[in-house]
Amino acid sequence: MSAPDLLMPKPMLAQTVEALDQAFTVHKLWLADDPDAVLARIADRVRFLAAGGHAHVDEALIAALPKLEIIANFGVGYDSVDAAAAARHGVVVTNTPEVLNEDVADLAMALLLATIREVPQADRFLRQGKWLSENYPLTPATLRGRMLGIVGLGRIGKAIARRAEAFGLKIAYYGRRRQADVAYAYHSSVKALAEAVDTLMIIVPGGAETRHLVDAEVLKALGPDGVLINVARGSVVDEGALIEALRNRTILAAGLDVFADEPQVPEALVALDNAVLLPHVGSATIHTRRAMGQLVVDNLVSWRDGKGPLTPVSETPWPREKA
Ligand code: NAP
Ligand code: 8YV
Repeated sequence: MSAPDLLMPKPMLAQTVEALDQAFTVHKLWLADDPDAVLARIADRVRFLAAGGHAHVDEALIAALPKLEIIANFGVGYDSVDAAAAARHGVVVTNTPEVLNEDVADLAMALLLATIREVPQADRFLRQGKWLSENYPLTPATLRGRMLGIVGLGRIGKAIARRAEAFGLKIAYYGRRRQADVAYAYHSSVKALAEAVDTLMIIVPGGAETRHLVDAEVLKALGPDGVLINVARGSVVDEGALIEALRNRTILAAGLDVFADEPQVPEALVALDNAVLLPHVGSATIHTRRAMGQLVVDNLVSWRDGKGPLTPVSETPWPREKA
């Protein structure tokens, strides 16, 4: 009997592909000369889908695969997968929670420090030979006395909070609800949080519900000493409003790991010296990416063996809820 068919729309880590090749017949769509023809040929055989590289898995693709049972997403954020549509079609979606918490939290703190202390700007200054004639200017911002507002105090948000406490920062948070076991100050809107703090850390899921949660009004509330760090999704911040706020010094600075239309980054943002920009590297260590890839494999193999998904997302709970 041949191994079950698995669709892989976009490239994934070599180690993940190798492991999946041993357990499944893997259809690597990005290698096909005519992906549509391949899809049409295998559509009624595909039971498994491994979604890496932010592969867009929409309802049309799910509906075109009538035997599809499970979509394993590489990433804890699964806004590129239509999980509600998957639920309607009886397809389970899994993601990769927990294994990336610490590396993403480290990167969030690195971005916060780099933004406040102008680390990339100082590096550029040295490389340009300017130190030979003058000292780097004192930075207007310091971490001392800052209050950090965390938008999304979930798994990663809490790992960031632990680090921030060690740096002596006061912490407050916003989420859809107050968390009973959390002592940090809670604010019931992002605007109220922005009014109360001078530093915002964005680490909520992307998607329609959180689109432009940080808009011009929130940036104004954050104020002229305000620093915005976004390690969530570009869609959460109104990028146009942010560029204006940075340009007009409505806020002081921003550190961004994610963008609205990545890997495209607006020229206007690149031109600003009060923004530190990273190419979506929150989880990008070999250690963590391997662990994420292994969790994708483990979910798919567990499902194949009749043991259910290991880390299903909230839209497709397991065991299934009764209708
Ligand atoms: P999580 O544990 O599910 O935490 C998400 C937090 O966001 C929760 O505290 C939740 O609190 C809040 N939240 C959820 N939906 C919300 C909404 N509609 N409005 C307001 N708050 C909402 O998730 P996580 O594992 O920490 O990951 C968070 C996100 O980080 C991911 O979804 C992903 O987009 C992003 N991420 C980025 C990178 C990177 O490389 N830059 C790496 C990993 C993850 P309530 O339920 O109380 O609202
Ligand atoms: C990954 C992420 O960069 O897990 C997430 O939600 O954003 C990152 O860990 C991404 O999913 C893989 O390309």
